[in-house]
Amino acid sequence: MGRKVIIAVATLNQWALDFDGNRERILESILEAKEYGAAFRTGPELEICGYSCEDHFYESDTFLHSWEVLLELLVAPLCKDILIDVGMPIMHKNVAYNCRVVFLNQKILLIRPKLYMCDDGNYRESRWFSGWRKLRQTEDYHLPRMIASVTGQNVVPFGDAVISTKDTCIGFEVCEELWNPESSHIAMGLDGVEIFCNASGSYTELRKAYIVADLVKNATYKSGGCYIFSNLRGCDGQRIYFNGASCIALNGNILNYSKQFALQEVEVITATIDLEDIRAYRNSLRSRSHLASEKPCYPRIITDFSLSPEHDTTLPIATPIEWKYLRPEEEIAQGPACWLWDYLRRSGQGGFFLPLSGGVDSSSTALIVYSMCHMVINSIHQGDEKVLSDIRKILADPDYIPTQPSELCNRLLVTCYMGTENSSKETKQRAATLAAQIGSYHMYIAIDRAVSATLEIFSTVTGLFPKYATKGGCARQNLALQNIQARLRMVLSYLFAQLMLWVRGRPGGLLVLGSANVDEALRGYMTKYDCSSADINPIGGISKTDLRLFLNYVKEKFNIPIIGEIVSALPTAELEPLCDGQIAQTDEEDMGMTYAELSAFGKLRKQEKCGPFSMYCKLVQTWSNSYSPKEVAEKVKHFFRCYAINRHKMTVLTPAYHTEGYSPDDNRYDHRPFLYRANWSWQFRAIDKQVEYQLSVQQAATSRINKNCNRKLDSVSRTRTGIHV
Ligand SMILES: *[C@@H]1O[C@H](CO)[C@@H](O)[C@H](O)[C@H]1NC(C)=O
Ligand SMILES: *[C@@H]1O[C@H](CO)[C@@H](O)[C@H](O)[C@H]1NC(C)=O
Ligand SMILES: *[C@@H]1O[C@H](CO)[C@@H](O)[C@H](O)[C@H]1NC(C)=O
Ligand SMILES: *[C@@H]1O[C@H](CO)[C@@H](O)[C@H](O)[C@H]1NC(C)=O
Ligand SMILES: *[C@@H]1O[C@H](CO)[C@@H](O)[C@H](O)[C@H]1NC(C)=O
Repeated sequence: MGRKVIIAVATLNQWALDFDGNRERILESILEAKEYGAAFRTGPELEICGYSCEDHFYESDTFLHSWEVLLELLVAPLCKDILIDVGMPIMHKNVAYNCRVVFLNQKILLIRPKLYMCDDGNYRESRWFSGWRKLRQTEDYHLPRMIASVTGQNVVPFGDAVISTKDTCIGFEVCEELWNPESSHIAMGLDGVEIFCNASGSYTELRKAYIVADLVKNATYKSGGCYIFSNLRGCDGQRIYFNGASCIALNGNILNYSKQFALQEVEVITATIDLEDIRAYRNSLRSRSHLASEKPCYPRIITDFSLSPEHDTTLPIATPIEWKYLRPEEEIAQGPACWLWDYLRRSGQGGFFLPLSGGVDSSSTALIVYSMCHMVINSIHQGDEKVLSDIRKILADPDYIPTQPSELCNRLLVTCYMGTENSSKETKQRAATLAAQIGSYHMYIAIDRAVSATLEIFSTVTGLFPKYATKGGCARQNLALQNIQARLRMVLSYLFAQLMLWVRGRPGGLLVLGSANVDEALRGYMTKYDCSSADINPIGGISKTDLRLFLNYVKEKFNIPIIGEIVSALPTAELEPLCDGQIAQTDEEDMGMTYAELSAFGKLRKQEKCGPFSMYCKLVQTWSNSYSPKEVAEKVKHFFRCYAINRHKMTVLTPAYHTEGYSPDDNRYDHRPFLYRANWSWQFRAIDKQVEYQLSVQQAATSRINKNCNRKLDSVSRTRTGIHV
């Protein structure tokens, strides 16, 4: 009896509008699926054109070229005798839909449009597509002539239907439909669909990888059946990194899954399942059976094809496996590194230029590049020809064979400490040591003369000489003197990035890397157009706390002892003169809040949707052991004041790898005004009223209980020290 089925799921690193590359990768995945003996291959969402085409979905070219690629797939000899399901945009009755196209032996069986659009987070699908609202209905779709001429079909079914083979029934759920509370798989499962395919374009965020696995396990635990989740992986031209982690689940168990981060462009996973296991499982869920018997039915597209071979295969049935999630520090070591790799090879540049100050942020960026070098070398050692040919192209060396990560890092990464007479010996030394331990091509440049020359221009014109605060200058002067140093670093970075490969006898230029973290962006603790302005920023979506976690991890993993010193040093911008040779400025003092507090503000503002008033109300509870209501009010107001006056900096935030749910990135993720009434007069009055109310309640309570309130006052005044407003 034939009932064993081999299913193949592709994870692809597609690129928006790269129709050539996307077609090749799809074909390669079909080839691999056939080599594994699979009867069915499914792939990720919009795999033909790439997910992030965005406003190119308004262009008819995008639809035309997608059909052209589909045509090539239809006629490819490779695609014979295997049921294939691919993703592309299709216009039906002048409405654009995000679709799956299911075909077999040069015939299109079904076009299945996505039902629900996703508009959360970085998604804006309903800007380009509409959801198909005619549930359990199909219409005739008139095929373009070029397709009709090879399939011999004029019309094919378009809509919410399922595929019925001789041995089983397959249904489709596209991405958002899985997260939706009314997931399609529930109704389909009750109507006898045994295999659900979910094509997705799901991107990475720290600590979120378990969610998809959970959804998929839960979906099949309740409904029984086989769930196939197929995802994109990589940077397809945007700030997000698609999360990989495609998987196959059966009756609540994971059978196989693909890697979350990898340089590999095509990964196919397979599982052999026994259809009888689905039937037995479902039949034992008695309440499900009773419910199913009364449920309405999906239109079925009948095809004369079986997924299971005539004679039973001797292949063993796949057994459940445990999903091993990466820890957040591993996610930081791998995710941004893979994103950088995609960006580097696709941008056609020759490497990276990084201003390296020896602090946590720029050191983390350097170490992410170093981690990328490790991944490149590992992939080449595992025989990945594509990675080898890509690195040869990047280095303009057709015979290059990498040996050590540090040797590769030397070719790819130029680091530069841009110091002044007022930089401390310690940071300069830390930067040099880190560079030596990872192998980057390191330089020290003194920028004092550029600073004084620029100031001279100002003084010649105005006759005035700005001074540091320590020398009696006002706050404006003090800040201007810091900013001029910071901005000159950006100018020099671009100069060196453009010419360093010329100096080193190679063609091309370098990408400038930025390294401002997510908390600094939120608080606006950065100089606009300083060296936080760069081509790309791998750590712009990561908090200081997580960067420290990451550094401690790579210190051991890559054996880089200097990281110990970098992590334990106080974060400082070093833009103010030293006091007796010591650092006079630390970031947390400068900002008037700690990084831990910033993370708390960030999460409440973005993820919990708090304005000043509700943020106060939440924090007054959470922080009740450490701060009085008045202190909490001061902190919240200080944060919102800083946030408001600095929000304009978010409009020019360097494109950063998206990975933090509270990212303030104005360009895609966190849409807000950038001109605020920064005293929040209405909102802050509400806080003040609440503080007063809380104080009066507290006082009433204290006097009632008649406790020793001196001790309490004492503790309040103690916590007051160290708050900088
Ligand atoms: C399909 O995948 C998406 C994730 O991209 C998820 O939101 C959706 O819920 C999935 N469907 C099911 C039934 O798991
Ligand atoms: C899946 O089920 C488990 C166990 O019932 C539950 O803890 C978890 O929250 C569920 N996950 C999702 C994403 O629904
Ligand atoms: C997952 O699929 C791949 C590709 O077919 C296969 O080599 C591997 O053994 C599978 N893993 C499991 C746990 O079945
Ligand atoms: C370094 O500090 C000194 C002393 O405060 C100051 O006069 C000088 O301008 C500073 N140098 C730079 C480049 O800012
Ligand atoms: C708050 O800002 C507005 C607009 O900038 C200004 O008109 C108003 O006087 C300010 N209120 C206070 C209390 O400072």
